[in-house]
Amino acid sequence: MDAPLVLGIAGSPRRNGNSEQLLDACLAGAADGGARVQKLVVTDYAIEPCRGCNSCSLTGECVIHDRMHEVYAAIDSAQAIVVASPVFFATVPGVLKVLIDRMQPYWARTHVLKQPRPVRRPGALLLVRSGGDPYGFVAAEYTIKSVFAVLGIDLVGEMKVTGLDSASDVIRQPDDLVHARELGVQVATAALLTLGD
Ligand SMILES: Cc1cc2nc3c(=O)[nH]c(=O)nc-3n(C[C@H](O)[C@H](O)[C@H](O)COP(=O)(O)O)c2cc1C
Repeated sequence: MDAPLVLGIAGSPRRNGNSEQLLDACLAGAADGGARVQKLVVTDYAIEPCRGCNSCSLTGECVIHDRMHEVYAAIDSAQAIVVASPVFFATVPGVLKVLIDRMQPYWARTHVLKQPRPVRRPGALLLVRSGGDPYGFVAAEYTIKSVFAVLGIDLVGEMKVTGLDSASDVIRQPDDLVHARELGVQVATAALLTLGD
């Protein structure tokens, strides 16, 4: 039996910033826990926005042919998914929201085409923000939880870290990096149990 694959999705347009460093720690923990890991950096992909054409409600597939097919393949082959994102204007950055909207075929398959629901998989959520606006994590959190619901992801844990702004701020918060690593171990453990089902 292959080790389970934990897919980490880095949702920030800034490379190696706070959320990506937390994700790296989490994926390192997942590897410690016996998983294979893959990191998908959303900003490396030129993904077109959903057109809202609802073709996926007829076919279960997206009509746009771009690198999103690589994202679909990564999501379909993962036994667990971790999403890391900063808060931008209360919700997730545009690059991540574009990717999330392109998940609509998964929703259409289950809710319109009545295909079987996806197999349940564990996951985790890592959110960071500076604290520079009054709206907290709520909108970003529910945006990601909404797509987790569509993908059949059961949250093993979540981290929300405030007070991070410059790209290296998280380095000064080693406890958060340790916590992210521990969460990764938990995700791997849950993914291993899923494989055993
Ligand atoms: C366009 C933009 C919008 C932002 N909006 C918010 C916000 O609404 N609330 C907040 O607390 N921080 C906000 N921030 C701060 C980021 O969440 C913070 O810098 C975070 O640490 C960036 O994470 P990263 O290093 O992973 O990119 C914003 C930053 C940018 C660039």
